[in-house]
This record gives sequence, structure tokens and C-alpha cells, in this order.
Amino acid sequence: MGIDNNDRRKFLSSTARGAVGAGLMLTASGWNRVLGANDRVRVGIIGPGARGQELIKDVMRAPNAEMIAAADVYSRRRDEAKNLAPDVKLFSDHRRLLDLKDVDAVLVASPLHCHARHFLDTLAAGKDLYAEKTMTWSIEEADACLQAAKRSNRVVTIGLQHQSSGELIDAKQWIKDGLVGKITHIETWMSRNTPRGRGQWVRPLPQDCTPDNVDWDAFLSGRPKRTFDANRFINWRLFWDYSGGNVTENMVHQIAWTMRVLDLPVPTAAYMSGGVFSEKDGREVPDTIAVTLDFPDDLVLTWQSTFSNSRYGIGDRILGSHGTIERLAGSTDMVTGRSLTGLRYYPEKVNRAEAAMLEGQSKGANHMADFIECVRSRREPNAPVEIGYRSAVAAHMANISYRQKQRVTFEEAKQSARI
Ligand SMILES: NC(=O)c1ccc[n+]([C@@H]2O[C@H](COP(=O)([O-])OP(=O)(O)OC[C@H]3O[C@@H](n4cnc5c(N)ncnc54)[C@H](O)[C@@H]3O)[C@@H](O)[C@H]2O)c1
Repeated sequence: MGIDNNDRRKFLSSTARGAVGAGLMLTASGWNRVLGANDRVRVGIIGPGARGQELIKDVMRAPNAEMIAAADVYSRRRDEAKNLAPDVKLFSDHRRLLDLKDVDAVLVASPLHCHARHFLDTLAAGKDLYAEKTMTWSIEEADACLQAAKRSNRVVTIGLQHQSSGELIDAKQWIKDGLVGKITHIETWMSRNTPRGRGQWVRPLPQDCTPDNVDWDAFLSGRPKRTFDANRFINWRLFWDYSGGNVTENMVHQIAWTMRVLDLPVPTAAYMSGGVFSEKDGREVPDTIAVTLDFPDDLVLTWQSTFSNSRYGIGDRILGSHGTIERLAGSTDMVTGRSLTGLRYYPEKVNRAEAAMLEGQSKGANHMADFIECVRSRREPNAPVEIGYRSAVAAHMANISYRQKQRVTFEEAKQSARI
């Protein structure tokens, strides 16, 4: 069991109410700046760790945007943020950053179990929000965040950058043009490898990662109390209390892409098997995974993942009666041995005898630049909260099935007090 159920309910209902109440109040009092086309968007970040530092660079590259604040519970990360963006004001407590009136938009790149708190607090403070994937650690939290986002007038985007890809545009068009026909099966996979003895994701523990330099209680953020543990803090991805393992780290990107291409609702049922097979290094989350997701109208999707073989990289295949859409990243072609990347369409000759193979042509957008532009224009970003919600629910259904060792329907998953 992760967070205590009573604590979780209290947290979700109080912060969700807070987000809604504060959102209305801020709008009524005209607290938010109305940005003109040439105004600089002023950005703060919560959790400038590995991913967060990439996001800081993205903001600094985006037109007319600047980083002005960073909050992190670990002093080393605050120093690193300052090195990247010397003008940032630094905080340990994210709420002090949210108090700043001149912050227009906030990036959330904290560990998964902190996402909901940071998401809801950011909206409650009346800021626009770029929240890293997976949107939340549980279905219950995803419900609360979706509701808060819908009720606020803030721009909310999720760090599902494949939603800004040209491949999404082309694949949607091919489906719309009827090139794929009846689709009954989607096969997707993601594979990586590491030198034997060194598990995927395991990071070295810096010497300064000590209780003096880390606000450990703030990191725990309501998870079961325990004494300071540098390994859990740095390698939070390996533990269920803070992580959802590889389905929330990577499947979520692929499932969100497919859901958007085909306009899929949340799955009707999920089954996931696998285990800690590659490296038995104390991790709790599986490194070898096979997921089956059922969707309405006769459609099944499979996702498989290993951390001890990388030959076929990452891929998604939408298999239709009239053709296949294939999206690859670094997959070794079985025949030529070449590494293949990109989007292609292959006709099924039995139903489209004259058709030819196609390659994706559309240019994607920069995901961060899209968000910054939306903060100014108030249009909907490329990865709206709603795709964050659907993809999070799919990932959590898979994990719930794995941990309960049985197939779960959407209704059962919603009812099960997640884990
Ligand atoms: N979109 C992508 O392609 C992509 C890629 C990598 C990671 N991510 C996501 O980004 C998030 C962060 O991953 P990471 O690898 O950067 O992790 P990380 O551990 O490197 O960074 C997390 C940061 O949050 C800080 N932190 C922890 N608790 C906090 C709290 N309560 N308040 C403020 N700061 C806190 C940590 O000190 C750390 O600096 C995850 O959700 C991950 O899934 C997304």
C-alpha cells in the first residue's frame, strides 16, 4: 500500500476544492496578467531534476519566454537550476514559488507521486501549467486533476511531446482518408538494454544527498513515513510508492499517441504480466512487461517491454484490413539490419491492390514553444489535459492488473484503492 487512504482522500478533496475556489477568485479579481503578443511569458519550475533541466533549456530557447523561479527540495538541483538560468529565484517549498505574482506559468517535473499535489496547487494559485507525464500516480488523482483543470480557466498541457509530432498529423490523416480500413489490433513495444549488472534507470547517489540538503518529508509528500533513504530519493522510479514503473515512464507516451490517432476512449479492460527479470537489484517495478488493453468496438492493443534487449527499439503498428501504419524509433530491420525510424504506411494488397507505400511528411511543433504560445493566445495546447487523463488511466489500469495478478475492467480499476 502506498499513501494512506484517509490522508489521500483528505488531500484530494481539499486541494481540488482549493483549486476550483482559488481559480474563480483569481479570475474575478483580475489577478492574472493578460499577455499581449509581445509580452514575455515568465516561467517557474517545480522539480528541476534531469527532465526539469531539459525543460528549462526548452523555455530559454522558446521565443519571448524567461525562467524566473525554481523550487526543489534538494539543494544540488536548486544550484543546477541557477547555473542554467542565473536569474531564477530559488525556493525549497513549491508553495513559495506559487506565491510569486509575476510567475505566469509553471512547469511540474517532480517525481510521479508529487504530480497531483503540484498540479492542483499550481491551478489553485492561478498559474498556467505544463505538467510532466504521467499526469498522476493514480486514477483517483487523475480524476481530481481533470476536474480541477476543467473548472479553471488556465492553460494546461501535459509533457506528452509526441502529441506535437508530425507523425500524429500524418497518421490521423491516413486513417481519415480510409487507407487503413478496419482495425482490430495494435501492437506496440519499447525495449532497452544496459551492460549486465547495471540496471536500467539506476543513478549514482551524489555524496551531498543527505538529510541536511534534502527536505525528505516534502519529497515523501504523504507517502508512508520512513527514515531518509538517498536511494529512494534519487532512484524513486524503482519503487511503487513514488512510481508506476515503465508503463508510466514510457508506455504512456505511446498509448497517448495511439489514443489520439484513433480517438480512443479509456480501455474497457487491462491485463499485465511480467516481473523483475533483467536485474534483481532491489527494484519493485517490473522490467519485463506484457500489457493487453481492450477497447470498445472490437479492438485490442498490446504493449511489450524489456530492459535486456534493445534490437527492436520503440515501435507502434496499427494493423488494418487495408493497410498498416508503422511508427518506429531505432528499430533494427529484420531483413536489412538497418536501424529504422519514422512513420510509414504499407498497403494490404488484398484490399488495396494499386496502393503504394507512403512516408510521413508533416513537420511537428516544438512542444514547449506550443505551450508558451498558448499561454499568450489562450488556445488549447497540443497535449490537453484530457489526453493526459486517458493515457494515465490506461497506464494505471495495467499496473493495477499486474499488482492484483488478474484482468481488471475500467470500473474495477476505478474502485480499487490504488495500491
Ligand atoms: N516527457 C518526457 O519525455 C520525460 C522524460 C523524462 C522524465 N519525464 C518525467 O519527468 C518527471 C521527473 O523525472 P526526472 O527523471 O527528471 O526525475 P528527477 O528525480 O531527476 O527529478 C525530480 C526532481 O524533483 C525534485 N523533487 C522531489 N520531490 C519534490 C517536491 N516535493 N517538491 C519539489 N521538488 C521535488 C527532486 O529533488 C528532483 O530534482 C517524471 O514524472 C518523469 O516521468 C518525462
